[in-house]
Amino acid sequence: MAQNLVDYLPFPCKVTSITDLTAQEKLFRFERIDGKPFNHRPGQFMQVSIVGIGEAPISVSSSLTRGSYLEMGVRKIGALTTAMHELNVGDKLGMRGAFGTWFPLEELRGKELILIAGGCGLAPLRSLIQYVEDRPKEFAKATIVYGAKSQDDVLYKNEIYNWQYGTTFDCLCTVDAVKTGTCWDGNVGLITTLIPKLSFDSKNTVAVICGPPIMYKFVLQELFKKGLTPENIVVSLERHMKCGVGKCGHCTIDHLYCCMDGPVFWLSQIKDVANAL
Ligand SMILES: Cc1cc2nc3c(=O)[nH]c(=O)nc-3n(C[C@H](O)[C@H](O)[C@H](O)COP(=O)(O)OP(=O)(O)OC[C@H]3O[C@@H](n4cnc5c(N)ncnc54)[C@H](O)[C@@H]3O)c2cc1C
Ligand code: FES
Repeated sequence: MAQNLVDYLPFPCKVTSITDLTAQEKLFRFERIDGKPFNHRPGQFMQVSIVGIGEAPISVSSSLTRGSYLEMGVRKIGALTTAMHELNVGDKLGMRGAFGTWFPLEELRGKELILIAGGCGLAPLRSLIQYVEDRPKEFAKATIVYGAKSQDDVLYKNEIYNWQYGTTFDCLCTVDAVKTGTCWDGNVGLITTLIPKLSFDSKNTVAVICGPPIMYKFVLQELFKKGLTPENIVVSLERHMKCGVGKCGHCTIDHLYCCMDGPVFWLSQIKDVANAL
């Protein structure tokens, strides 16, 4: 629950780098103008604003273990995100937050992790992936499973290469389809085709899922077949948000507020909540 006026007042931030990820997505790195750290946790989101344009929730895409900066992967879709895509290094914008629940690092410690992202869902999950990459001894094992529509839509290509060929992760990547006349030497098929290939001890494993709404039902079916239960599955949900702090009611999922009770939930918390998944 927002307790302080400070939750409603954007603080100014400066863009310190911009990287093209795909034709529609850019990665932004920000620092606070006052030099303070963002104090974000993996899985949380910020309310990003540009004066005269508007405000929107955007996930934290980097881990605090990397330093005091904050990164966001942003898809150009509407007013605010289009204005963000027109920013240059050195430009300023406002942020509130960090808001919402985060990936339950305490409960994940010592577990095998299956980190599953579809499309833009890799943006929030990357904050947890970086945390695991920086503190690998805290976890028994970590596998990344990522699916994109086509090879042109694959985010963080260089990082995926490092996750695939480094020692911290097993990393499986697939595209739904290969465009005619283009090359892709990886797996082709929906993300659900990768899950039967995984081998893990279901008693000591937690799966974390971030992706488009359509993905959850089918991914969950495959995970249940492998012996996982709602008690060892974590999901990150997206809802239309305005205030980000439990006041406006735009983000409700039955009796829950996605902005405050979520966006990160244990599946056991929401499995019986109407329209949650
Ligand atoms: C917790 C959370 C985390 C998120 N993380 C990210 C992230 O990491 N990266 C990212 O890129 N996005 C993220 N999003 C999504 C992002 O907040 C939305 O895409 C947001 O709407 C973008 O704001 P905008 O002003 O650019 O788009 P808007 O102008 O709000 O438009 C967004 C889309 O909605 C449509 N739309 C707008 N108004 C209406 C209306 N009245 N009726 C019907 N359709 C309408 C537009 O046509 C467009 O397709 C996140 C959302 C949540 C809730
Ligand atoms: S966004 Fe306003 S209550 Fe959640």
